Amino acid sequence: MWTNASRFFCSKFNLEFPIIQAPMAGGPTTPELVAAVSSAGALGSIGGGYLSPESLRKSIRGTKQLTTRPFSVNLFAETQGGAPVPPSTEVQQRLSMIAKDLGISELSFTPDVSPLLERQVEVLCEEGVAVVSVTFGLLDDSQVERLRASGAKLIATATTTREALEIENRGYDAVVLQGFEAGGHRGSFTDEAVQGIGLLALLSQAARAVQLPCIASGGIMDGRAIAACLLLGSAAVQLGTAFLAVDESGADAGWKERLLASADTDTVMTKAFSGKLARGIQNEFIRKLRDVEEQVAPYPVQNFITVPIRTAARNIGNTGYLSMWSGQASSLARKGTAAGLVRRLADEVKIAFRDLRSQTDFF
Ligand SMILES: Cc1cc2nc3c(=O)[nH]c(=O)nc-3n(C[C@H](O)[C@H](O)[C@H](O)COP(=O)(O)O)c2cc1C
Repeated sequence: MWTNASRFFCSKFNLEFPIIQAPMAGGPTTPELVAAVSSAGALGSIGGGYLSPESLRKSIRGTKQLTTRPFSVNLFAETQGGAPVPPSTEVQQRLSMIAKDLGISELSFTPDVSPLLERQVEVLCEEGVAVVSVTFGLLDDSQVERLRASGAKLIATATTTREALEIENRGYDAVVLQGFEAGGHRGSFTDEAVQGIGLLALLSQAARAVQLPCIASGGIMDGRAIAACLLLGSAAVQLGTAFLAVDESGADAGWKERLLASADTDTVMTKAFSGKLARGIQNEFIRKLRDVEEQVAPYPVQNFITVPIRTAARNIGNTGYLSMWSGQASSLARKGTAAGLVRRLADEVKIAFRDLRSQTDFF
């Protein structure tokens, strides 16, 4: 039932299924989730972007204790330059009002944003991780060299064909093609100003342009969508939102409930939480900043500023002020175990191809 490209991908990455549980920084990708997915034959991924070197090491070791199968770690390879720019006075006032609502006395509008990437790479080299993926940019040559020497395979994220070609030229092992449907932050690194490209259009064009194995991502929630991506030339798929509501996911209970009750119109793109475009379920926080979104601080400053708001909201179960990153097909999220979801997805791919065969006279 799998294609030649997906079989090649599985043998290269030592997997049973060409399915990747997306890295999801900020809490959802617990060691339990990552290990359960990898043990079930797919590729689990730790969202390590925000983690301090110590927390990153703990998360990797915790995962290794639960599985002997390969898993991946994802980092944010952004390049930060210049002095941090604060948000406008209007944005500061609105954030302060929200903070007051939550009992937070003061927010810092000039947070410490020292970059973590170099120290995170060191940890990955020391721990010997099977697969390292990056988003928001690319690793520098020295980082690539050290990670390769540690035995890691490398994956990077593209949102346009041009970005996919650059990733191929830099010698990565595979490219994640992230469509506009995708939950979470856009992984763009040169084409940030481009209006988002839907996965169907991106995959159809990029998979023809590059030789590299393509990993389709964005709005994929079941086996039929996986089968469609394989038909369009992707070697594998990366699913985030599909894994958010499973038992092992660290997403908050309120977020899981909102997901399971959501409709296809419920997510929006916003810069309000972090200063970088990301897709999540619309809520009070996004609405309160909607008309001043262009005045928030650039990423990652805005992200650091809003951490206390999101933490306080999480502690009291207030989904109005949480960032609930989710893709456009969120209504198809399912409860159950992570391993059960991997098995179900693989079965559904088989059924999708069987149905296609029985419903057409091409075969
Ligand atoms: C909650 C959440 C957090 C995410 N965090 C990351 C991340 O840390 N690194 C990354 O490369 N992608 C991240 N993504 C994007 C995923 O890699 C992937 O592109 C996306 O989940 C695909 O769309 P889907 O959610 O509709 O499956 C995140 C997505 C979600 C939903």
